[in-house]
Amino acid sequence: MKHFTILTLFPEMFPGPLAHSVTGHALNNLWRCEAINLRDFAGNKHNRVDDEPFGGGAGMVIRAEVVMAALEHVEQNNKAGDQPCVIHLTPRGKLLTPEIAKNLATAQNITLICGRYEAIDQRLFDYYNQQHANNPILELSIGDYVLSGGELPAMVLIDSILRFVPGVLGKEESHTEESHEHGMLEHHHYTRPAEWRGHKVPETLLTGDHKKIKAFREEEAKTITNKLRPDLLEKNRKKILE
Ligand code: ADE
Repeated sequence: MKHFTILTLFPEMFPGPLAHSVTGHALNNLWRCEAINLRDFAGNKHNRVDDEPFGGGAGMVIRAEVVMAALEHVEQNNKAGDQPCVIHLTPRGKLLTPEIAKNLATAQNITLICGRYEAIDQRLFDYYNQQHANNPILELSIGDYVLSGGELPAMVLIDSILRFVPGVLGKEESHTEESHEHGMLEHHHYTRPAEWRGHKVPETLLTGDHKKIKAFREEEAKTITNKLRPDLLEKNRKKILE
């Protein structure tokens, strides 16, 4: 079973929305998640996990020792013995792509570090990566905007990974024809009635001719991608030329 360990100051946020719909059906069946409170590793009377930044500036910084103690706790409790993949959610990270999500779907153990406040002391990463030179912390961002903490990005990441875990998506929800699966956006979708408020479903879709329908949808996907996200087509073109 796939295991996510989440290091957070707000463990009660998990599994949250992941307990619903397709990811919810697979919870405790194909995957599980354990949220660990960073405050339990504060190591002081007042359970303080943060302190003022050296050099001044806005916001507080999470102490390196707090996160390291939590990571060591996870390491010691890892019965399977395989090295977990440790990920820090940060707007400074590499942009999450379907390829990254697909790769992570094969990892058995994933530990997610969710920051809050201004940042985590940089020495946590320097120290951990020195100790785990063959398996350093992966820094991931879910987009070029700043959120209040790593919890929502962690949920987005988990959802995107789970969609590539065999059995999580039913046949009906298969991702083989989804947006981004082939580096393109998806074609439009229609359901009954065939005519609604004067708007008709494209005729090809009613023919039952699967070859024709496939060609129609491919063409539509190209037109939509060209109109809405021409950058994706350019990215694909470059990939092919590489
Ligand atoms: N934490 C705050 N903003 C973030 C983002 N855009 N991606 C990942 N982690 C974050």
